[in-house]
Amino acid sequence: MTIPIAIIGAGIAGLSAAQALQKAGQTVHLFDKGRGSGGRMASKRSEAGALDLGAQYFTARDRRFLAQVQEWQAHGSVAEWKPHLYNYKAGQLTPSPDEQVRWVGVPRMSAITRALLKDSTVNFNCRIAEVFRGKHYWHLQDTEGCSHGPFSRVIIAVPAPQATQLLTAAPKLAATVASVQMDPTWAIALGFESPLDTPLQGCFIQDSALEWLARNRSKPGRDEHVDTWVLHATANWSKQHIDLAKEAVIEQLLGNFAELIGCAVPAPCFSLAHRWLYARPSSNHEWGALADPDQGLYACGDWCLSGRVEGAWLSGQEAARRLLEHLD
Ligand code: FAD
Ligand code: NAI
Repeated sequence: MTIPIAIIGAGIAGLSAAQALQKAGQTVHLFDKGRGSGGRMASKRSEAGALDLGAQYFTARDRRFLAQVQEWQAHGSVAEWKPHLYNYKAGQLTPSPDEQVRWVGVPRMSAITRALLKDSTVNFNCRIAEVFRGKHYWHLQDTEGCSHGPFSRVIIAVPAPQATQLLTAAPKLAATVASVQMDPTWAIALGFESPLDTPLQGCFIQDSALEWLARNRSKPGRDEHVDTWVLHATANWSKQHIDLAKEAVIEQLLGNFAELIGCAVPAPCFSLAHRWLYARPSSNHEWGALADPDQGLYACGDWCLSGRVEGAWLSGQEAARRLLEHLD
């Protein structure tokens, strides 16, 4: 009997590891607490269409990741996004074009992890509470009290604060992971019946509660009938307003948006707010992935590298590489 490898987290890091292990002939079994894959690259279905509330786009600076992105592009799950970019600073909104290539999933960000999942074995709506070792193998206990296993090895591919709780079997690893701080981001989406009268499609913002805004339907493959916008608050504002009610978050950030966008902003016909508690690591690391190879426990995720989609994907590759290196 082949004993599979468990991967906790079906975000881009977990799925990157899964793909590399499957390519090497290993059997994996994924677990995710969410209803679907993607994690912070998931897209929220709403009455205004699917909205990318987390990762907005990604860049590819590492040649291995670029090769992967080009493969996704050839399969149609990724396309280049060429927004009219602006910069907002000291009360001034100015066009800010550049040469950077930016990628998005099509027709929504979650298309990428959906394609990576293919026919992998995965348990969704399954939050793992404990990772423990039996006599020979690993077992996982979920929050409903169900036990899963046996597994030969375990890869933990979740944000660092959530990973710490799953690493009690490896106190040294747990201590390293516990040192990683992750900051929150409040995200809101607004929809307008009539398109706003602005050419702006993406904007980097300074000196405001907001740090980013994007016109969702300017991304390739989107076909919403309303003009939807996604706005992200800064880490500082998000921390200061972490427990604010969603309606109040929408009201305040809508106010900031109306002040800076430079055109009339009518009442939105649609709005929602989402709080990302562990949106990004407060600093970058160069760990690649973390491992206790003797026990067969691995941890990966964006927080091991750059806190971006590219970093998460590379970290998943590195976890798989280190695991394969230690197989008998
Ligand atoms: P995640 O995507 O967080 O995946 C972890 C998965 O583990 C999740 O699906 C979660 O449900 C699951 N999980 C957690 N705990 C458990 C548990 N106990 N049991 C089971 N499952 C569990 N990056 C860019 O490159 N460009 C951007 O423009 C960009 N913008 C961003 C904007 C926002 C608001 C946010 C939040 C992130 C943004 N990022 C961006 C960062 C990017 O989204 C992440 O770096 C990347 O998606 C992280 O992938 P991951 O697999 O490491 O983690
Ligand atoms: P990138 O190269 O497009 O952006 C990096 C940074 O450079 C931007 O944040 C911005 O400050 C600046 N910048 C880039 N182009 C600009 C332009 N034309 N005009 C003005 N400023 C410009 O992409 P990269 O390096 O892949 O970064 C990904 C993006 O994801 C960043 O914007 C980052 O802030 C964002 N992110 C947001 C998170 C969140 O929780 N809100 C989490 C992780 C990433």
